[in-house]
Amino acid sequence: MTEIIDKNNLPLHIAITMDGNGRWAKKQGKLRVFGHNHGVKAVRDTVEGAAEIGIKYLTLFAFSTENWNRPDAEVSALMSLLISTIHKETKTLMDNDIKLATIGSTSKLPKKCQKELSEAIEKTKENLSMTLILALSYSGKWEIINAVKQIIKNKISFEDFSEDIFKQYLTTNNVPDPELLIRTSGEHRISNFMLWQIAYSELYFTDKMWPDFRREDLKDAIINYQQRERRFGRTAKTLHE
Ligand code: IPE
Ligand code: IPE
Ligand code: MG
Repeated sequence: MTEIIDKNNLPLHIAITMDGNGRWAKKQGKLRVFGHNHGVKAVRDTVEGAAEIGIKYLTLFAFSTENWNRPDAEVSALMSLLISTIHKETKTLMDNDIKLATIGSTSKLPKKCQKELSEAIEKTKENLSMTLILALSYSGKWEIINAVKQIIKNKISFEDFSEDIFKQYLTTNNVPDPELLIRTSGEHRISNFMLWQIAYSELYFTDKMWPDFRREDLKDAIINYQQRERRFGRTAKTLHE
């Protein structure tokens, strides 16, 4: 790849659906968990690469609400992997000045997992270069319902209710909507991710399975994004007026 990233046109926020671990493993005659284990390297390289490029927010879809419906053994293997990865990778976050955050129904995660997460969040809270958001036990529909429930509870009036008020009740409050959403593994679907926030995101699909994804692939996605014209419903002519 000879093309170069334009630093003046970087997405502020990139979201990634890390998909294909199971198929990657299966292709090699291994168990699905083998793929999840190898996905960690892809996470580290992508996170470091994003920080290096100057991305401000990176959201990784790591575990969906629907993923709880997988076999118990796979769910517990994923939870153990999450615990050990957060523990080990806090150093990577500190070394790269990255703040950790989560979105999702994290109270559903095992206690040990919640503890590791809150320790890492506390430890990295002063870091400013990039915010890494892990979507855990997350789904877009869950988030919208959760927001509506809080709005009702807080008795927001019919007159006061607006798009801006609604946004404040989403878990991504204070985070800009992702300009770019990447999904690996060749699947062309959203799978209940950030339904509200991706209204105008550019979608980028790659056939690479998540364990093979590296910072070079992230760069390719950003370069592809930079070649697009984001019209937001306007015409090319009125866009710059
Ligand atoms: C993504 O890989 C990881 C999670 C969803 C937790 P998959 O486990 O979905 O792998 P495939 O898509 O079945 O290959
Ligand atoms: C989406 O992948 C969720 C995550 C990557 C965490 P899935 O593998 O769960 O999605 P589907 O089942 O292919 O739609
Ligand atoms: Mg999958």
